Amino acid sequence: MKKIALTGIKPTGILHIGNYFGAIKPALALSREYEARYFIADYHALNTVKDPKELSAHIREVAAGWLAAGLDPEQVLFYRQSAIPETFELATMLMAFTSKGLMNRAHAYKAAVQENLEKQEDPDAGVNLGLFTYPVLMAADILLFDSDVVPVGKDQVQHVEMAQDIAQAVNFNYKAEILKVPQAVVQESVAVVPGLDGRKMSKSYGNTIPLFAPEKQLKKLIMRIVTNSQEVAEPKDPETSQIFLLYKLFAGPEEQETLAKRYRAGGLGWGAAKEELFRAANRELGPLRDRFAEISADPAGLEAALARGAERARAIAGTTLRRFRKAAGID
Ligand code: ADP
Ligand code: TRP
Repeated sequence: MKKIALTGIKPTGILHIGNYFGAIKPALALSREYEARYFIADYHALNTVKDPKELSAHIREVAAGWLAAGLDPEQVLFYRQSAIPETFELATMLMAFTSKGLMNRAHAYKAAVQENLEKQEDPDAGVNLGLFTYPVLMAADILLFDSDVVPVGKDQVQHVEMAQDIAQAVNFNYKAEILKVPQAVVQESVAVVPGLDGRKMSKSYGNTIPLFAPEKQLKKLIMRIVTNSQEVAEPKDPETSQIFLLYKLFAGPEEQETLAKRYRAGGLGWGAAKEELFRAANRELGPLRDRFAEISADPAGLEAALARGAERARAIAGTTLRRFRKAAGID
């Protein structure tokens, strides 16, 4: 029996190449070893995205994006969180086992309070209960599906630890393994993808290269990458160039070696280095972009794939929920 890997994808913006190399590719690689359950965490996104058009567009774009990047919905259980009502019933049950103090310690909530204090505002200004109870909903996502491992970025490890705490409180109370205690897996080897300005690529910095940017836009964005004022003739250090760091993501080892030599030899200007990056990026992203366009052109097909996933997911979710309700005396 394969172990179960589960992760949630928050549809809060369009996908960029940092998401692709930092989250999508590693998760797809993991799905070859594990029984994978990957879902769109749309109710989590509702905490921050209040514009209905925007939220619904992000849900579809992100779902189509994962499929275009190679997620096979026959292999991976792929669904929308909002299509699994058992999640919210479980979240309510988990609340009875979650101390308020645990939620007070969650990083996202603490950061919001800290920011308010610095602005001399009420500590809870602008904090909705969705943000405060975010870790309980996330625990429900995880515990509902008997997850063994939860692949996440470093910032989410605390949330997975809270899911462990909550599961253990339930199991301790009923003296039985009602809920499987999950483990976080952080892919340490995954590099931080730099953005156009050299900082970490992130939608909050506005320095991203969208994963499905049309060819022309891709080229334009790459040409906008900030460089230093070194002349064409000067030898350049590939390892300190963010153009080369990005190139490495798209090129094979031999190509990397060849281009690194040209950097070091001098005579390669930043413009030419960017051309090389564009060529390699477009080679990998071109087919993805075409698949994304195809999937997006068939919204009914996308809905149907998600609905099939949800149906299979609900069967699993029902089993967990019945087990817990029975143990709790609510059956
Ligand atoms: P953003 O920083 O653009 O808001 P998210 O926080 O929504 O991105 O990230 C979604 C996933 O993509 C996470 O697993 C995160 O670790 C990964 N990710 C985001 N940006 C990068 C990056 N620049 N390099 C590597 N991984 C990234
Ligand atoms: N909180 C995660 C993030 O911000 C998304 C998420 C929601 C998730 N539920 C999850 C991740 C369950 C792993 C497991 O990226």
